[in-house]
Amino acid sequence: MSPGMTIFSEDIKRDDDDIENQFLKGVKQLVDNGLHMVPKKYILPPSERPAKNTEDSNFGKQNLQLPIIDFSDLIGPNRPQVLQSLANACERYGFFQVVNHGISEDVINNMMDVCGNFFDLPFEERGKYMTSDMRAAVRYGTSFSQTKDKVFCWRDFLKLICHPLPDYLPHWPDSPVDLRKVAATYAEETKHLFLRLMEAIVESLGIVESNKEEKDNLIKELEDGSQLMAANFYPPCPQPDLTLGMPPHSDYGFLTLLLQDEVEGLQVQFQEQWFTVQPINNTFVVNVGDHLEIYSNGKYKSVLHRVLVNSSKRRRSIASLHSISFNSTVRPSPTLIDKANPKRYADTDFETFLAYISTNETKRKSFLESRKLTSILLD
Ligand code: OGA
Ligand code: NI
Repeated sequence: MSPGMTIFSEDIKRDDDDIENQFLKGVKQLVDNGLHMVPKKYILPPSERPAKNTEDSNFGKQNLQLPIIDFSDLIGPNRPQVLQSLANACERYGFFQVVNHGISEDVINNMMDVCGNFFDLPFEERGKYMTSDMRAAVRYGTSFSQTKDKVFCWRDFLKLICHPLPDYLPHWPDSPVDLRKVAATYAEETKHLFLRLMEAIVESLGIVESNKEEKDNLIKELEDGSQLMAANFYPPCPQPDLTLGMPPHSDYGFLTLLLQDEVEGLQVQFQEQWFTVQPINNTFVVNVGDHLEIYSNGKYKSVLHRVLVNSSKRRRSIASLHSISFNSTVRPSPTLIDKANPKRYADTDFETFLAYISTNETKRKSFLESRKLTSILLD
């Protein structure tokens, strides 16, 4: 090869790297710099796009009214009915919405605002927290997995590890100035709500009647368990039919408590079709994660969901993901296993999950699939 050729190909390589670096700064940065078309990097193959054709089940034009759980009714004479509704919701939809949850409007609005303000900071400020280290106390990034996604999705995120709070809080961003205080309050209050919901859910599985000790132990493990908050930011997208804010995935953990702003975008899969979850002010959308599906031995479902983007409005959401601690093992509840109902999932822990996602390109629902036992069982 002539020297000229070498320089030429290096130039091209440098251009490619520049473009790649642009993408790695996130979608907000792209949009802020002015954009009329979706770059190739974000264009999904036609079969994975949120198709426009309303005949196509992939579009999910219809809304789905998820069951509504009145949290205040868990205390008092209606508890049995609420537990029944919870059981139905977790079995049928893997999703429900919680109203009268006791978290004040101020705590919710402050959290939504402060996270939105974080994404409005100059890139240099946000970029300080970019890392591929999944264990970092703070992680700012873009897409779903920016190191592995071939096609990027239209989402930037800020992830905060929350437990134990005194260890992690000093590492959280100190700009915007009130972020630490607001996010710490939000983390504590969602953790409390999560624990009360889990008590009810464990009871709804019939575990308390037959094995109160198991319930107490699980709740204790969850109290000291992991909590990760992800603030998601979806800027307006010039061609929303070509891409997704988040690809279909299920959540790691026992439960995710999701707060969405007033802009719709979240879709859940129900009977093999996509349905939009209409935002309701001051309401948490709660979903069963992989760990609860495993713990319930498959009774409660960790369901695929995804996020659509739109051309006119930015969308914000905050997901709070909860599980047992990173070095504990999740296994099907022994109380739910017998001859008629054998163990359906292999035991799993966070290390197994990390090892799995580091070797597999598409994690999506496949991690949970990988834990399923198909025939007669291991241990
Ligand atoms: C998630 C998630 C949905 C949304 O963070 O895991 O599914 O509406 N978010 O942002
Ligand atoms: Ni999710």
